[in-house]
Amino acid sequence: MTPIQKVITNKDTKINPIWIMRQAGRYLPEFREIRKLNPNFINLCLNEKLSSEITLQPLKRFNLDAAIIFSDILILPYGLNQKVEFKKGFGPILGNININEMNNITEENFIKKINPVYEAIKKVKVNNLVKNKSTIGFVGAPWTLLVYMINQQSPKKKLINNFFKNKSLINNILMILEKFLKIHIKNQIRNGANVIQIFDSWAGLLEEKDLEDYIYKPTLNLVNYVKTLNIPIICFPREIKNYSQYCKIVNPDAVNIDYNVNPKEILKNIQIPVQGGLDPKILLSDKNTLKKEATKYLDIFKDHPYIFNLGHGVLPETDPRMVEYLVQIVKNY
Ligand code: CP3
Repeated sequence: MTPIQKVITNKDTKINPIWIMRQAGRYLPEFREIRKLNPNFINLCLNEKLSSEITLQPLKRFNLDAAIIFSDILILPYGLNQKVEFKKGFGPILGNININEMNNITEENFIKKINPVYEAIKKVKVNNLVKNKSTIGFVGAPWTLLVYMINQQSPKKKLINNFFKNKSLINNILMILEKFLKIHIKNQIRNGANVIQIFDSWAGLLEEKDLEDYIYKPTLNLVNYVKTLNIPIICFPREIKNYSQYCKIVNPDAVNIDYNVNPKEILKNIQIPVQGGLDPKILLSDKNTLKKEATKYLDIFKDHPYIFNLGHGVLPETDPRMVEYLVQIVKNY
């Protein structure tokens, strides 16, 4: 069993494994070098040689307990033939949806289009750097993918007016997402992923009354599916107002908290293993502050199954030496 599996499955409280959201990415000079030569981000994700190499870059530097496969949640709409591009300094831009065409996409078409992601997982799995470590596959939650697909770019602080105008379109997309998210999860696992994380980055945009239809129901469905495959499932409903209600209803094997969550409150209200929490901005401060803040999380969760991670992705301007120090703090605790 890997340390992360021990925490999630055996509820081991004596160890504190660590991995970092967006660990394979822009704060690493060796990543930037590859990125400079590969201006098309989706093509980079679909280059199995480079994406497996990028996946392993943080593990070469730091004593992390997991590799997270270098891909993106938006590879799914890309696989469904929606145009997806990343513009420098702006973020993702998606094309229009042709719903009739999307309804006709087969499992074979989809897999053929994004197959290098699965080939990359295979390559990562046979590398010695991941021995006794977890290989994390991931997807965007149905809600967060729906937001990008309809909004066609990051929603920043709020949804566009009329987001829910075309209910039948929304329900149709959700049905397609359910089918292909399962296919994407299944294939990541088949090729070697042994933990799955669901990123619901825009969970915080919904009002209470809409949670049932857009978050609880569709996510529970996916969580139950992953459970049938006997693979641990971690959910990250970023900025959702009520984490404890989310955990009661969706009941993942572990939950990642964002940095606005009060960890002491969570400890009182949540029984399942917890992951994350530390504000990524702390990595931009100094070593003393980092040690103090990281130790705060370790102290609070010392008798609770806990996987160290951040409360959102590591920031591009982070000094890799601070990440190294953080890993050291957690390992020496
Ligand atoms: O964690 C990892 O290192 C694995 C790879 C990974 C990426 N994206 C690579 C990436 C993962 C797990 C993601 C998840 C993802 N992608 C989320 C959920 C987590 C979150 O941050 O809320 C979301 C919302 C996306 C969509 C996305 N991808 C956006 C909004 C952007 C642009 C802004 C940004 O953060 O960079 C991306 C691009 C992206 N995805 C990059 C990387 C390394 C940067 C690409 C670049 O070099 O320009």
